[in-house]
Amino acid sequence: MEKAMLDFNYYNPVNIIFGKNKINELQTLIPDGKKVLITYGGGSVKRFGTLDRVKEALQHHIVGEFGGIEANPTFETCMEAVEQFKEGHYDYLLAVGGGSVIDGTKFIAAAINFDGDPKDIFAQGVGKGLPVKSAVPFGTVLTLPATGSEMNDGAVINFNKEKAKISFGSPYVFPKFSILEPELTYTLPKRQLANGITDSFIHIIEQYLTYPVNGKVQDEFAEGLLRILITIGPDVIDEDNHDYALRANYMWTATLALNRLLSRGVPGDWSTHALGHEITTLNQTDHARSLSAILPAVMVVRKLKKWDKLVQYAENVWGITEGSEEEKIDTAILKTVAFLKSIDMPTNLSEVDVKEEDIDTLVKQLDIHGKEAISERGDQTLDVSREIYRVAL
Ligand code: NZQ
Ligand code: ZN
Repeated sequence: MEKAMLDFNYYNPVNIIFGKNKINELQTLIPDGKKVLITYGGGSVKRFGTLDRVKEALQHHIVGEFGGIEANPTFETCMEAVEQFKEGHYDYLLAVGGGSVIDGTKFIAAAINFDGDPKDIFAQGVGKGLPVKSAVPFGTVLTLPATGSEMNDGAVINFNKEKAKISFGSPYVFPKFSILEPELTYTLPKRQLANGITDSFIHIIEQYLTYPVNGKVQDEFAEGLLRILITIGPDVIDEDNHDYALRANYMWTATLALNRLLSRGVPGDWSTHALGHEITTLNQTDHARSLSAILPAVMVVRKLKKWDKLVQYAENVWGITEGSEEEKIDTAILKTVAFLKSIDMPTNLSEVDVKEEDIDTLVKQLDIHGKEAISERGDQTLDVSREIYRVAL
């Protein structure tokens, strides 16, 4: 049968406001009369003046603050914000921060309106996986380009008691708007810049490196975005390089990497994310670092399954034209590892403090979280995942 694009729906209502001094537009983006709870993380937005700019722009609104959403946001902290929102009779949320603050705010927005225990919004061994039927409206001011959360309908929340990092998605948690000011990235340290490049890179890979279905648009978009990240990555991680054009390309690429456009009509993988999330749960490794430690092993162990796309990746992303198909694939894997190393990312498990004796725990956690049949064909069993962890050591 001729390969053809799969059927799909694509819905994305997020209003993107991109450029310089866009925070000023908050006063018109949030309807008059709304009482706004501003959510933020560990304090970077206070230190660097972003919160003051937001409050200045919202001087005609009544605002309150909820700070302290952790990197890898926890259910427990988000539930404190739910309480504050309800007690203070707020009616709008504004997330100012990176993926963790935005994800936390998505959950807060859904939990406020949820009828029942908000834990049941989640499945995968934590709750009943009940659908979200409404959410409080919210906007975002993005300070860390990485996750794409500013333009998608997903969020990842951490459960300390259950030792789980679980996602949920709902069209009700698309932000109403997201403000993208590339200049807000100037305060990011090298580690977070490298994390942002890497998370974006691997989001594209998870939607691209599967098997071909003749999705020409999706493939060309993905390959183009990967080439951009490879080209700009080493300059972006130079925290002193405040080149506006460079940071603008970084920011928009990261958003497009996971606004789901690339994934429509083509198979998806997400096994690197599944295996990486268990590492973060185990020892709090940064999200992107958990992914880069796993990706090379996924490429090696799943080589036969991903063969055609790996050849295409070698040719179109890395420009490898010489050699047999297998030689092209092997060179592309080596180049991927070299790229990740060049931006100071770990490429094996020992660099993220995972030891051989931890693998049993990681695989057990995958099982508890319903990850026994993952990857583009659902044929990545727990044994295959174990092999990937082993090869990644
Ligand atoms: O907490 P503060 O003080 O604000 O500091 C943060 C945090 O320590 C700091 N930071 C953010 N913007 C800054 C800044 N420092 C200086 N200048 C700025 N402009 O950076 C640190 C990391 O922030 P965080 O928000 O945790 O990082 P990221 O954006 O990488 O988000 C990671 C989270 O997103 C989830 C991950 O699992 C993880 O929990 N993901 C969400 C996805 C989604 N919703 O679609 C998809 C992703 O695959 C990912 O799983
Ligand atoms: Zn990610």
